[in-house]
Order: sequence, then C-alpha cells, then structure tokens
Amino acid sequence: MADEKVMDNTVVYDDEALAAEYKAKRQMQIEEDLKKPFDPECVLEVRHLRKTFPLKKTITGKVTKELVAVDDVSFKLHAGETLGIVGESGCGKTTTGRAILKLHQPSAGQIIFNGQDITNFNSKQMREIRKEMQIIFQDPYSSLPPRDTVGGLLSEPVQVHKIVPKNQVKNYVLELMDKCGLRDYYFERYPHEFSGGQRQRICIARALSVNPKLVICDEPVSALDVSIQAQIINLLKKLQREMNLAYVFISHDLSVVKFISDKILVMYLGAVMEFGTKEDIFQNPMHPYTKALFSAVPNPDPTVKMERIKLEGDIPSPANPPKGCRFHTRCPYATEKCKHVTPEYREHTPGHYAACHLLEQE
Ligand SMILES: Nc1ncnc2c1ncn2[C@@H]1O[C@H](COP(=O)(O)OP(=O)(O)OP(=O)(O)O)[C@@H](O)[C@H]1O
Ligand code: SF4
Ligand SMILES: [Mg+2]
Repeated sequence: MADEKVMDNTVVYDDEALAAEYKAKRQMQIEEDLKKPFDPECVLEVRHLRKTFPLKKTITGKVTKELVAVDDVSFKLHAGETLGIVGESGCGKTTTGRAILKLHQPSAGQIIFNGQDITNFNSKQMREIRKEMQIIFQDPYSSLPPRDTVGGLLSEPVQVHKIVPKNQVKNYVLELMDKCGLRDYYFERYPHEFSGGQRQRICIARALSVNPKLVICDEPVSALDVSIQAQIINLLKKLQREMNLAYVFISHDLSVVKFISDKILVMYLGAVMEFGTKEDIFQNPMHPYTKALFSAVPNPDPTVKMERIKLEGDIPSPANPPKGCRFHTRCPYATEKCKHVTPEYREHTPGHYAACHLLEQE
C-alpha cells in the first residue's frame, strides 16, 4: 500500500492519504454498481444508500459538519422474504428504513422498488406508490389516531386508495380484521379500549389494508409484553405467507430476528459490518461485531460452537466515527492497522459479505 511506510521496523500510516485512497476506490465501485441493470426478480433493491444529517451550518446555509447516519448500505429483497436489520442503538436501522420509504430523502445511492428507481421521485410520484410500501412502528399507542373507531381507521386508506368499490369497503375491512385476529365487533370500538398487542394488530391491519408489496417493521414488538410478542410475530409470518409480502424487519432482539428473517444485515455506526443469509450469520458469523452481538444471546443449538466476545466500551459518536475500522475502539482483535486502514466490505463466500482485516489474512 502506497500510504504505509516502514520506519525503524514500525509501520507508519498516513491517515489522510489512506482515507483518500479508500474513498476513491469505493467511489469507483459505487459508480460501477449504480450503472448495473435492476434485478427484475426483486421487490426492493437498495444500492449504496447513504443518509447524512447536517449538524452545523454557516449563516449562508452551507453545511460544515454532518452526521452520517447510514453509510453505504446495499441489499436485495424478493417477494415473500424478510431482511432483518440488527445493531445497537443509533447504528442507523430506523434511518435506513425511513430512507427506503423516502420519509428521509437519501443523500446518495439508489432505491429501486418494483423495478423503478424511486430515489429522486417527488412527493406526487411517491403518493402513487406509497400504498405499496408501508411501515409498522414500535409504539402502537402513538401510531393510531385516537378519535376514530377501528372500523373508520381501517376503512379510510381502503377508500382513499380505492382498493375495493365503496359498497364493499365494510366487508373488505371485516375480512382483514378476521385475518389479523381482530373480532368483528371491534369495528365500532376505539383504539384506546385495547391493549398494546391488539393495537399492534390494528396497526398491522391498517398497513396491510392497501395490499402493499413491502412492509418496513421497525421494532414492531419491542414495546409489547414478552407473552404477546410471539403472537404478533406469528401473525406477521402468517400474513407474509398469505400476501407474499417482503419485510424489512428492524429489531434489537436477535432471537426474534433469527425466527423471522431470511437474510440479515448487521450494522454498526451507520455501516454494514456483515450481511448474509440467516444461516450464514447465525451458524458462521465472520465479523467480530456480529460474534460479540451474538455472544450476549444463549444459543440453544449445541452443534453451533461460537467463540464468545464480550462487547465492552461505549458506542462512539456517529458524528465522529473512529478512523480505519469503525469498530476498532471496541474490538478485542484490533491491531494498529485496524486503527488506520478501513477494511474492505466484500463477498467472502457466495452471498456472505463482511468487512474485517482478519478475514483478509485467511
Ligand atoms: N432527523 C435526524 N436529525 C439528526 N440526526 C438524526 C436524525 N435521525 C436520526 N439521527 C441520528 O442518526 C443516527 C442513527 O439513528 P437511527 O434512529 O437510525 O438509529 P437506530 O439504529 O434506529 O437506533 P435505535 O435502536 O435507538 O432505534 C443516530 O446517531 C441519530 O441520533
Ligand atoms: S478490522 Fe480490525 S478492528 Fe475491525 S473488526 Fe476486524 S479485527 Fe476488529
Ligand atoms: Mg430505531
């Protein structure tokens, strides 16, 4: 490497030159990838997604400091599939979900939904496809307007998007309620009369009332009692099978992610550390951060032997992520190189990606 010199047997790193070299190489890869044809088999293709938020501006409005909440996230998702996104608080899970739905305008990268590049769609264009992309939030208490009845809440999107003729709306909603485990007499009741689990069923019914293709589930069971969580997860799985839905499932809870996901994306400080199928990630995790996350969860499978890594130290500020490998301040294997050189995120076995210098030495 041009920017690494050996002096008195010590490697001296030129951080600025290394960062520039990494950026240039990455940029070339991004430009190449963004020109590739869309995959017609996918409901959603996310390519090199980046989302920054301004932290400091001059009086003329020029951004002088920004926070990179999502830094180069890519994946593909097919109908009927679930992508789980995991990582500690603040790693960019919600921002990724919201940028996919364009509730945040992506700063760079591409969002391809159903064969269309929607990255630069304006609000009018988004209105047309909004019904195909829905979101279920963590808090079922604040996500339902209190003034309307359950029937009214569920009928409104069906009418607005003309899903069925007007005279069939009530029957359509009653069928949907049945599918979601809601009794028909709830039609006349108000959301505040229900428990968290029932309210989340109403939120799910509302999201699915417009026949979406993609649903972003942002911690949909984290606010619920443990006893209710399994029921809601099972309901989401059942509805996915029946409606061939694609899910992006965001969660802190690795056992939930393991149960529901087909593919998993592990994020740290905005960037992807590892991506692969559920089997890749749970049976053969490659990245020290993934291993550390999993070390905290008991593994009931005696055939899976995993080294335990204790995750210590605080998460650095995403506004000022560490140089080199952004996980180096907490990684037990970090070397001098890790502090200066950003590891390449690449495919190590088909479909299984990770970014770690240790993997380059194998
Ligand atoms: N609108 C915003 N303006 C500025 N910074 C933001 C904004 N939204 C999110 N962030 C920052 O972006 C980073 C990623 O936040 P995000 O909410 O996506 O994380 P998360 O992984 O969903 O966390 P959690 O697990 O706590 O929900 C955080 O540092 C957060 O403070
Ligand atoms: S690159 Fe270095 S610091 Fe980063 S995860 Fe790998 S060993 Fe740890
Ligand atoms: Mg979040």
